[in-house]
Amino acid sequence: MPKTKIKYICQGCGYESPKWMGKCPGCHQWNTMTEEKEKMVSSRHSIGQSSVKKKSKPESITAIESREEMRIPTDMPELNRVLGGGIVPGSLVLIGGDPGIGKSTLLLQVSSQLAKKPLKVLYVSGEESTRQTKLRADRLGIDVEDLFVMAETNLQEVANVIDEMNPGLVIIDSIQTVYQEEISSAPGSVSQVRECTGHLMRIAKGKGIPIFIVGHVTKEGAIAGPRLLEHMVDTVLYFEGERHHTYRILRSVKNRFGSTHEMGIFEMKEQGLQEVTNPSEIFLEERSQGVAGSTVVASMEGTRPVLVEIQALISPASFGNPRRMATGLDHNRVPLLMAVLEKRAGLLLQNQDAYVKVAGGMKLDEPAIDLAVAISIASSFRDQPTRPDDILVGEVGLTGEVRRVSRIEQRIQEAAKLGFKRAIVPEKNLSGWTQPSSIEIIGVRSVQEALQITLGGA
Ligand SMILES: Nc1ncnc2c1ncn2[C@@H]1O[C@H](COP(=O)(O)OP(=O)(O)OP(=O)(O)O)[C@@H](O)[C@H]1O
Ligand SMILES: [Mg+2]
Repeated sequence: MPKTKIKYICQGCGYESPKWMGKCPGCHQWNTMTEEKEKMVSSRHSIGQSSVKKKSKPESITAIESREEMRIPTDMPELNRVLGGGIVPGSLVLIGGDPGIGKSTLLLQVSSQLAKKPLKVLYVSGEESTRQTKLRADRLGIDVEDLFVMAETNLQEVANVIDEMNPGLVIIDSIQTVYQEEISSAPGSVSQVRECTGHLMRIAKGKGIPIFIVGHVTKEGAIAGPRLLEHMVDTVLYFEGERHHTYRILRSVKNRFGSTHEMGIFEMKEQGLQEVTNPSEIFLEERSQGVAGSTVVASMEGTRPVLVEIQALISPASFGNPRRMATGLDHNRVPLLMAVLEKRAGLLLQNQDAYVKVAGGMKLDEPAIDLAVAISIASSFRDQPTRPDDILVGEVGLTGEVRRVSRIEQRIQEAAKLGFKRAIVPEKNLSGWTQPSSIEIIGVRSVQEALQITLGGA
């Protein structure tokens, strides 16, 4: 009988302790410590020996052969962009997202596209039977010979199949369902998730096979299991979207092979996920024109400009502290911009409730949206609409100055393409690029100037 040791591990942060505690000292959450048994023989040495057991010795960095990272492109440019240009061989990609958001659908579609290349693809489903996967494949119109489906949760079995089959892509749906026999704790527990991911990583790196892992998310929206999981993999993608919208947004929060600012937009249809190539049109589709409190900003999502509507509603506070609410943007920006408007432009906002929202369920976090937020607030406060074909870009400083933003040319081009006639931009951004002729460009130095232009003097 191998000796076993009992320890308590926090399921939230992975904190380990020899005795049970009600509150985890690591993340201060209550009731997250669970008992897990550990065998005294370190499992780390017994696992995955076959895949990597090379003697490694240090090499001078100048002696290492450098070559352009080869990437396998999928047929979805939106996904390729989020991945940084395609799937990197030997990379481990984690996809997290709410239940039913479409993780399995997306990966099945990717699998079939690569299987057509042709590349052998192994789709391991621990959550659904092969029949269920087949049903979904039928609905998505997928019928490729090189796509192999397996319903298996024992990771050793999966590793054996990979050894035998040598696929070009492996999908593990999901990491919370697979287990390793050596570890006695239940699938989905911190030890299992950690060890299984470690094993998969050794397979990916050792054989140069890209592996996609599906991860469940907790109520708070983080990927279940310790943060450690996100550290171990090369790329972490989140698939998000609102239940009642058919749009789904794929974001990268960590990427060792590309920028993390990219996002891909998809629409969930019966035939599967379809790419949305013109996001600005969608976000502006339902905009009602000529209404006070609404402006449009050209925001950058990674390398792509997206036009989004910013809405503000300012109404007198009935009693007590006025409310400041923000949806889709940083909460602190709203009171800050209101204070700037009050002090620098003389708008008496201190006893007003303010609700600011980015329309269409988008989340914007760049400072270049400041000017649009400020003008929306002023427009709603004065109950005076701005011109519907105005676009606003600019960061607002505490002295009311409008500061330079990046990539102005792309933002303005996108606005011109969608028929906007006037752009209010930071004055510092006016030079150094070619301005499209179909749009009038006005440079402003301060919020007051921008107010004067968009709403006129009051
Ligand atoms: N016949 C259909 N027509 C349109 N959409 C459908 C149809 N069937 C399923 N869907 C969509 O597919 C979604 C389920 O996708 P999928 O199973 O890929 O999600 P998932 O993220 O893998 O979920 P889980 O976490 O449960 O594994 C549903 O929420 C629904 O939006
Ligand atoms: Mg699924």
